[in-house]
Formats: sequence, structure tokens, C-alpha cells
Amino acid sequence: MKVTIDGIEIDVPKGTTILQAARMIGPEVAPPTMCYYSKLKTSGGYCRTCIVKVTQGSTANPNPMPKPVASCRTEVMDGMVVQNITSPEIIEARKGIVEFLLINHPLDCPVCDQAGECKLQDLGYEHGSANTRYEFKRREYEPIDIGDKIKLHMNRCILCYRCVKTAEQITDGRVHGMIHRGDAAEISTYIEQSLSNDFSGNVIDVCPVGALTDKTFRFKQRVWFTKPVDAHRDCKKCSGKARVWLKGEEVLRVTARKDQWDEVEEFICNSCRYDHKKKSDWVIEGPSPIHRNSVISQNHYQHLNELKVEAMKHQKALGFMSINKKP
Ligand code: SF4
Ligand code: FES
Repeated sequence: MKVTIDGIEIDVPKGTTILQAARMIGPEVAPPTMCYYSKLKTSGGYCRTCIVKVTQGSTANPNPMPKPVASCRTEVMDGMVVQNITSPEIIEARKGIVEFLLINHPLDCPVCDQAGECKLQDLGYEHGSANTRYEFKRREYEPIDIGDKIKLHMNRCILCYRCVKTAEQITDGRVHGMIHRGDAAEISTYIEQSLSNDFSGNVIDVCPVGALTDKTFRFKQRVWFTKPVDAHRDCKKCSGKARVWLKGEEVLRVTARKDQWDEVEEFICNSCRYDHKKKSDWVIEGPSPIHRNSVISQNHYQHLNELKVEAMKHQKALGFMSINKKP
């Protein structure tokens, strides 16, 4: 099936969504996502961040679609023509979506552990507007513990359902979910139960904002002062392939590795995540590739390493010259 997105044509198999087709072309045209997660079945369709304009439905029916569509939930048709970044209406509409997502979200980035790796922060910078028109009181909840290692800040939740689907699909006996509906909807554990499954920590990694945070890492360090390295260990419960966040020789936290779309590559178990906080527990493979365009990749040490190697080369050359200059 042929589909054209922002002027770039691509051939894709039947059943591919517009979002998947755009990702096949590359990050330049791929719409942002806040709820879709390729590793989770039935995710997507909640946030509307990924909307695009379909200017031609298909070769058989060349009419445009009357309204923007959620690209994560709309399958391509042969001959479909789609606009994302080339459509001024979509760029404008996405600003409105960001405004909606921020209606109840507190601007507490300076004290939020997710700052630097928050999808909403990135979305706000890339697609938001500087002002809000919202005048009413934001909904407020007290932070609560769900399990002994996870803190829930419901104020920051954007109701994307990713954590619910993660718990449903990779843990046994989910005990948390969304209760109530509309603006009263909230994430909650079933009456006084806690998240204590072997894989429950993964809800932290899939949360796009700082609503679910790792209590063993909270307030320890801004992420951009840590060095993420890919590392592995022998683990009976999961693949043991993780990302270890170092400050000097200290392991500050362990997370799953994420791909270029900022999605978990392989879910990891709680033992890898919480119980192995010594560098010697891990076989370090090397610096983690950080694809996201955020403070976390600014001044990235991979780049600093390159500069260091260059500087050493120069020093060597200079040293060689000064030796030659010696009488
Ligand atoms: S807690 Fe996080 S992952 Fe769960 S619904 Fe809210 S924003 Fe999404
Ligand atoms: S990413 Fe498509 S609706 Fe949320």
C-alpha cells in the first residue's frame, strides 16, 4: 500500500497505521505521541497528540477526511495522502491539545524527578504555546504510595492509560486502574492493595510524565547530571538488559532501555531495577544512546568523550612537536 506523508511516499503492509508508516519514514515526520506505546496492545486513542490531516482518503476515494484523525488508531489506505508538520491547521490544533493536557498538570518541573525526560515537557516546548486560557482551579490530590517503591502524583497524570495497560499485559493480577470518569478520572489501586508484582516497576518507565516515580531515586539527582550506560546481568526473571544511571561510581537508578521513540525495548524485573544498585552487579556495555532532544542529551558525555579523544590527539601531536623541538 502506498501512502504519502508530508510529501514523502512509502510502501507499507496492509494494516499499518499512519503513525507506524510515519515512523518508518523517520522522526522528522513522525507525529508526537503521549498515550500510544508500540509495546502495549490496544494503547493509543486517548490523548489526540498524534493527530494528522488526511487530504486524500485513498486512490479509490480521493475525498479528504473531514476532521483531523488520530494517526495511532487510523490505518492507511492505498493512495492515502497525509499532512503532519506540513499542515498549519494541525500545528495549531496540536497547540490546543497541549493546552488541554496542561490544564490540570502542575508546572512543578523544577522539583519533578521526570524533568529532563518528560514527554509533556518536550511536547510543551515543541508544540505548545506560552500562555494558557484556563482560569479555573486545577484538580489536586495528595501524592500517595502505590507499593513500597512507587510514588503516584496524581496531579501530574495525563490519563494516558499506559501504566494500566502495562500492569494488565505484563504482570499477573493487576491491582490498579482508572477509577471514575471524565475530569474525575484517576489512577488508583484497588482498595488498599499495592503494586507488588515482580514486573510492577515498569509502570514507572512507561509513564510519560512524573506521575509515577521510583521512590529509590526520588530527589536524588537531576537526570542530566547522571550518566546512563547500557549494562546487563544474569537474571532468571527477565533478560537482565537494563540502563544503569551512574553518578561517579554510584548507581543511582536502574531502568529499562528505551528505543528512539522513547519506548521500553524490553521490560525488566523489579530485582534488576531495585536490588542491584552496585556497579559490580553489572557488566557495563558502554554509553547508552540517547535519542531524545532534551536537556538529557545536551552536553552529552558521548560528545564530551569525542572531544576528549580529539583533545588527546592534539596533545599528542603537540607533545610530539615539542619533543622534536628539544635541543
Ligand atoms: S500515571 Fe502516568 S502512565 Fe499512568 S495514566 Fe497517568 S500519566 Fe499515564
Ligand atoms: S498517541 Fe495517538 S491518541 Fe495518543
